[in-house]
Amino acid sequence: MQLFSSMIRHSGASSSLSSFSRQLFSRTTTTSASGEHGGVWGMLAVGASLLGFGVGAIMKESEGVVVANASSNTLQAAHYPWNHRFPWQSFDHASIRRGYQVYKTVCATCHGLQFIAWRHLIDAGFTEAEVKAMAAEYDYVDGADETGDPVARPGKLTDYLPKPYANEESARFANNGALPPDLSDIVKARVGHEDYIFSLLVGYRDPPAGKHYGDGIFYNPYFPTGGIKMPQALTDGQIDFEDGTYASISQMSKDITTFLAWCGEPETDTRKRMGIKAMAILFLMFVPTAYYKRHRWTMVKHTVISFTKTPPHISIPKGVPKHKPHGPSEH
Ligand code: HEC
Repeated sequence: MQLFSSMIRHSGASSSLSSFSRQLFSRTTTTSASGEHGGVWGMLAVGASLLGFGVGAIMKESEGVVVANASSNTLQAAHYPWNHRFPWQSFDHASIRRGYQVYKTVCATCHGLQFIAWRHLIDAGFTEAEVKAMAAEYDYVDGADETGDPVARPGKLTDYLPKPYANEESARFANNGALPPDLSDIVKARVGHEDYIFSLLVGYRDPPAGKHYGDGIFYNPYFPTGGIKMPQALTDGQIDFEDGTYASISQMSKDITTFLAWCGEPETDTRKRMGIKAMAILFLMFVPTAYYKRHRWTMVKHTVISFTKTPPHISIPKGVPKHKPHGPSEH
């Protein structure tokens, strides 16, 4: 109901319609008490209110009105046409590639991707040789030398992406007390998913006049409460994308969001491909299955069994109960 009322509040024409129906309705209650036309008026009023709701709903869609939640200052993210949103669409792999570049250059300073190993990146826009080289850029502590000191070696495909901080305390200490969340599942973990992450990244602006956030808190209307402890991390032209794409804030935000969506569900493309194949096979199998079912059941469905009394002129042998049906097999 709250949704309906806010829809009506936001679209002018429908609100006048609904107030019209409200007026109608209040007249109805008086007339219905006094006269017999009340029923007709009542039906008309209900019809008009329904029309009001319907038009309100349609207006909401067509005008693109954003329904704001009046109890908070948070903005809802708009819907964006992500490449991978529908069951028949795959990830934009060029975007995943650029997204990784954004992660590595910008976000990896503060955020980890603890569930992503280097090997996962193979075929997600990168070749095996590329991923091996990417992993080898980082050193991993593995084992100890003869004196017991830890030894570092270059990363391998089976290693997980390096963490930015050794522990939670150092992460909080470096970020004004806030913990930068791990980004492996962040797209799935937030209401609004990709739309929210994208809006958050492009949503930094000056706080509205009269609003003051403390030191190290930045205004972002998409973040619940409006004050986030993550600074604006992206600036126009900050990265030279290897494919020549211009790195505007929105381009980088789109690419990192696609990359993070992939991190949350790296199996998406395979799953969708399997799904499409399975649906195609099931559809093809339906035709012979339907035919076979009809074929097998024809006899059963079209056999008529009727039970009749024995005609009087047929003599029944002694000992046979009078009404017991008997067929040829009994002779
Ligand atoms: C300087 C450190 C830093 C950098 C760089 C940084 N972040 Fe953050 N990020 C934070 C901190 C700190 C928080 C927690 C903010 C809070 O809770 O107020 C955060 C929170 C987030 C959140 C969660 C918001 C929520 O709804 O809880 C997302 C998503 C995010 N960052 C994405 C990114 C992406 C993508 C990048 C790279 C483009 C990036 N961050 C770069 C420090 C950083």
